[in-house]
Formats: sequence, structure tokens, C-alpha cells
Amino acid sequence: MGWLVSEENFDKSKIELFGSKFCIGNGNFGYRGTLEEYGKEQLCALTLSEIYDDNGCGWREPVNMPNPFHINLSVGGGNISVLGSNVAKHEQSLDIKHGIHSRNTTFVTGSGSRVSVSSERFASMAAPELIAEKYMLSADSDIDIVMNAGPDMDVWDINGPHFNVIRSESSGGNTDNHFLIETIEKKYQVSMCVSYLVQTGCDYKQDGNQYTIHLTKDDSFLLTTYAVITKGIHCADPFAESRAKCECFAGKGFDQVLKEHEAVIEKRWRSYDIEIEGDPYAQLAVRYSIYLLLIAAPFHTEGIAIPARGLSGQVYKGAMFWDTEIYMLQMFLFEEPEIAKNLVMYRVKHLKEALEKAAEFGYEGAFYPWESQETGKDGCTLYNLTDIFTGRKMRTYFRDKQIHISPDVVFGLYKYMEITGDYSILLQGGTEVILECARFLYSYSYFKKSRNRYELLDVTGADEYHERVNNNAYTNYMAKMALKCAVDTRAYMEKNHKAEWDSIVKKLKFEDDLAHIDEMHRLIYTPAPGKDGVIEQFDGYFKEEDLSVRELYSRRIKENEYLGSLCGLAVNTQILKQADVVLMMSLRPDQFTKEEKRANWDYYEKRTEHGSSLSTCIYALLAAEIDEKTYAYDYMMKAATIDLVGNYKLYLGDLYIGGTHPAANGGTWMVTVLGFGGLRVNADGVSFVPDLPDSWNSMSYHFACRGYEADCKLTKTTMTLHLTGQKKSGFLFNIGGKTYEMTDDSITVNY
Ligand code: BGC
Repeated sequence: MGWLVSEENFDKSKIELFGSKFCIGNGNFGYRGTLEEYGKEQLCALTLSEIYDDNGCGWREPVNMPNPFHINLSVGGGNISVLGSNVAKHEQSLDIKHGIHSRNTTFVTGSGSRVSVSSERFASMAAPELIAEKYMLSADSDIDIVMNAGPDMDVWDINGPHFNVIRSESSGGNTDNHFLIETIEKKYQVSMCVSYLVQTGCDYKQDGNQYTIHLTKDDSFLLTTYAVITKGIHCADPFAESRAKCECFAGKGFDQVLKEHEAVIEKRWRSYDIEIEGDPYAQLAVRYSIYLLLIAAPFHTEGIAIPARGLSGQVYKGAMFWDTEIYMLQMFLFEEPEIAKNLVMYRVKHLKEALEKAAEFGYEGAFYPWESQETGKDGCTLYNLTDIFTGRKMRTYFRDKQIHISPDVVFGLYKYMEITGDYSILLQGGTEVILECARFLYSYSYFKKSRNRYELLDVTGADEYHERVNNNAYTNYMAKMALKCAVDTRAYMEKNHKAEWDSIVKKLKFEDDLAHIDEMHRLIYTPAPGKDGVIEQFDGYFKEEDLSVRELYSRRIKENEYLGSLCGLAVNTQILKQADVVLMMSLRPDQFTKEEKRANWDYYEKRTEHGSSLSTCIYALLAAEIDEKTYAYDYMMKAATIDLVGNYKLYLGDLYIGGTHPAANGGTWMVTVLGFGGLRVNADGVSFVPDLPDSWNSMSYHFACRGYEADCKLTKTTMTLHLTGQKKSGFLFNIGGKTYEMTDDSITVNY
């Protein structure tokens, strides 16, 4: 129960949506949930992580590989496909516990025979180069079928093509297709070796990738495909490696490689699963959200983080945004800190490019990109959107004014240390990142003498409908947090690693900046709550036109017109695209009273359009804090079901923008564990303030924190902790205002 996502009947209008919904992946690549008969028009994609390309059009995006599972069937010269044939029965499903995609379809041919197709595929989590599929054909009467199975080289791209095939071999026996591609811009090499193996009692003839089959009603035709994808960035000879690995996996057989994959994904679920009793739909939605993060996370490398659309395609240039640090990181921090470290180290590795970006705009320090890719450079262009009325490029300020990305990166490092208790990251480049981000903020700031304070002017905050504003609350508060982190890092390093600290300060020529950072931390302006408790989102925000989202919508000429940029409808109003002040409060909950949180939630909730999938989970998180349980639950479910229901825009003009939504998936985890479970880790220690939604009888999850690992089960009145890691006692926590220290490995408390 609660592990199966499935859909019955074929609906042409859902093809793109289901491509994302039924996606599989393993961090090394993603494979969209498409059917074997689909081609590029149906947005088939095997999207690589870490390999990006620009073919000269200035738009870098991840590379899609040829589709190894493409199959064409025909009977009497006519195609058999859901796209045109008579479909008697169709089901597509995803077993999220095991990461297996299945389809079962029965066609009725012109002669009235029923031909059934079923397949099962998985992207191996045990062997990240492997994706394999079993495809079975059967019929209710004897029938001749021609099947063409072979990699579909006609690849779907948004701004492709991205590669040339520079070497290719096909060999007899089992049909093997083996090739090496080279990308256009950076000459990355990637090899794919595909092996097709037949098992059948039926008569068939094979000519290359074509099988002419005399299918009998008593026998089936089974084609097993092993596709191995190796990247030149990970091995010296990807061409040789893909063949060797493919032979090895094919030798082991489908059942064995599946078993190995299942062992790994099941182990992951033992850490990541959240069990909810009493609410089956929430159970499925929460698990599915976790699944979508697990298939996109870089388990195998520090070279990359999680793109804004996961590995479900090339949308958003496959770029990694602040979404990773602010929305996704906490799940990994509490479940598998080693993977969280990969995500954090990705930024550490690209400090150089962040320094270059700051210099590009005339600043010092590190200015991290809004859209980061494998090079660590900003993939965002200055004209990043197209006006749907005129077709002209629109000047946006995402690249040059969203300076909050640098403090967001510091937030990621800071959370890593706070939750894991592991400060060694400071000696692995973390200190340099924190100091350079602080230096950037100082360099960007303006010291207003008359008020004796530092201000951040001309910025774009989390709410992108209001670009180029002064003193955006989210930005200024996050900047203060980052500056404090720099000050604390100095204290920690001077005390514990004096020699290393001195050498870092010398290396960065930071001597003079230490005093600046210290002063800016004390004097940075963070807009305080007004008399009514509300914090103004930016200077002058309250003077903007105050209207409802509905009223704003009534002014639109086209439904998908952009509401921000230079003359968007929201620009001179108080309507926000996404949580801004509310986001800041939910990230720094200890800094505000419950009354202040309530005042801001009430004020901004009415004025938020939730035009970004990053918004509803944050309103849920803060609603949970202020005991607005119904709102918390409803907003959480909006975030949790976004990819299940597909309640999002698929096209902006004619540009496909669909895909999965990892930030909302991570936000769902945060609301569930941090919001309803009330888990909080800070300088005072670990505490729990649980308050489950009414429909939940209990919730069980696992977490890791500061060297401890525990299973936690919450009912409406009790919490049971069971220590599962090496440390079997001594865990200190607070619940209901009382502190407990565990003397053995289990404890149950009433709250
Ligand atoms: C949001 C950004 C987000 C990006 C990628 C945009 O629509 O406004 O905050 O980082 O999508 O998810």
C-alpha cells in the first residue's frame, strides 16, 4: 500500500505529463516515463546529469541521449501503437518502492486478434551506468509481427542537437548497438552500449535490429535490453568501458541486476521512508515526493547538485538553483548526510566561478549563479524570457540582481554543520566559501551614513515579480545570517584551527575584510516588524497597489503572460510570485515570535500568487508553526501532489516547461518532518514540537543528527524514539518544554 503510482486507459493529452510523472532515474541520468513506441514528438528523453552543451545558440542545457528502448511494432504493414491503434486496455505504473516503471497494453488488430505488450524497466541504483528493460509480446491467436528495436537516434532537444556520433559499432549474435558521442561545445564523450537479448519459443527471423516474428497464442516473445551509459568525465575509455559493463550486466541477467538494484533502493528507503497511518493519499504523495528526489540526487558524485526539474528533461537548462540549498538539502541532511555533503561540496568546488561572476559585475568576493551548471558558471542570460505578445526577448534581472544566492549557499553550509555536527567541511573549502560570500555582500552593500547602517540596494529577492528593489527582507535577513556565519567561522577557526585559519586569511588577502564583515554583520539593516507585526517586503512595498490575485488575473490579456519583468501586471502591485518574507521566517523560525509569524502569514498569504512551485510548501511550513493546521495540511498537499496531479503549466508560449519539481518535493519533506513532526535542531540542541494533521493517526520516520540515528514514531499524544545507529544512548532532546536524556536505545514520551 502507498507505493504504487498508476494510471489506466490511454489519454493522448496526458503524454507529456506522464513523461514526467512516471520518470525513473539514478542520479547519473533520468529516463522519462514514455512508452516504447514514442519518439521525440512525445518528448522521450534519457537526460544525462553532469553533461551539458551549447551548440552555438547560447543556451546551455543537459544532453539527451538516444533512446535505447524505442520499439516499433507492425502487423500487416500497419503500426501497432497507442498513438493510432485500437487500444482495448492500457495501464502505466510506477512502483516507487523498487523504482520500476511498467506498462501493460492490449491492442486489437484489424483482424480482431488481441496483441498484448508489457514491459518493465529500471535505472539501476546499484550500477549507475545501467538502465534495463524487459519487453514482452503475446497474442490471443497466431499472428505475424514485425518488430524494430533499436536506439532511436532522433533525439528530442529543446535547443539541440548537442552531439555527433564519432564512433559506432554493431555486432551480430545478440544485436548490439555500441556508439560514442561527442558534444559540440566541450567535446564531452559519452558512450552507450545496448544489448538486446531474445527469449522465445516462437519462430522468428532477425535482420539487424529487425525481428520478424511468428507469434503463437501459446508462446510469448521476450526482448531484454541492457543499456550502459559511460561518461568520459568518469573513465579514461568510455567506449571500451560501456561494452565491458554491458557484457557483464547481460551476463548476469535481468533478474540478477534487478535484484542488485532493489537491494540498494530498499536500503535507501529504510532511511528516507515516512510512514503515515490514516491518510493513504498523503502517504502516497509524501513517498512519491521523496522518490522524485531519490532518482535525481547525485549519489555518485560531488560534481553536481539537483536540477530544478530533476532529471526529467532539459527544462530550466537543467540548471541547479538555490532550490537545492533552501528546499532540498534538509531531507538529505537528516537522512543521508554523505549525500548532503555532495550537494554542499558542489558549491565549494565552484568557488572560482562565483568569484569570476562577482568580478564580471564589478564586485569582490563570491557571487553564486542563479542557474548553475556543471561548469559552475551562470547559465542564465540577461534576456532570459520571451514576451509572448511581441516575441521579443525580455530583460530580466535574475542573473545580476538575485544576490541572495550567495547567502543561500552559506545557509547550506551552515545547515550542514548545524545538523550533522561535522565542522570538518570548514577545512575542505567551506571557510573560503563563507568568507568570500561575506566579502561579496560587503562589496555590494551601501553604507547609509545618516542611518548608520548597511543596506542592500537594487536587488531581486525570492519574489521575482519585484525586481530591482531596495532592502528586500529575504535578502537582507539571509545576508545577516551569512555574515554571522562568517563571524562565527572566524571564532571557531581561531579557537580550533589557528594555523589553517591564518593561512586561509593570508591566501584570500582577507586581513582588512575581517573588520568590515564584523561591522556589516552588526549594522546591516533588517526591516523590523511594524506595529501590526508585518515586515515590509522591500522599501516602498506597502505603497504599491493593493489588490487581490483574482483582480490581478482579471486584467490579463493572455493566461500565460508573465506577471513580472519590466511591465508585468504584478510589478507595481503587492502581489507576490512566491513566499519571500514568509520564507525568511520559516528558515529562521527562532528569530520571530508566533504573533509576528502569524501577522506576516496572514498579510502575505492573501497576496501570494504561488506562481512558482517553491511557494506552497513554505506557506504550509509556517502555517504549521502558527497552529493553522488546516491551511498547513492543504498547502502541504498542494506541494506534495504537484507531480502526481500535474497541476502546473506545461507550456509557456510554445516552450515546454514541464517536468518534475524537486523543490516542492523537498518542501513536502520539510513540512512533514519539520512542520508536522516539529523536529528542530539549533544551538540549543534538538527539540520536537509535533502536531500531526487530524487525519493522521501516526507518522514514523528515520533521522540522523549529530552522530545519532533514530527511528521516530509519533502518534497524536506520544513520541517513541529508537536509536538505530552506533550510539545507543545519551541522545538529548526537548519535547513539551522538558529535556530528556536517553539512557538506553528506546524511549516513549507523552507530549
Ligand atoms: C522561481 C525561482 C526558482 C526557479 C527554479 C522560478 O520560477 O521563481 O525561485 O529558483 O523557478 O525552480
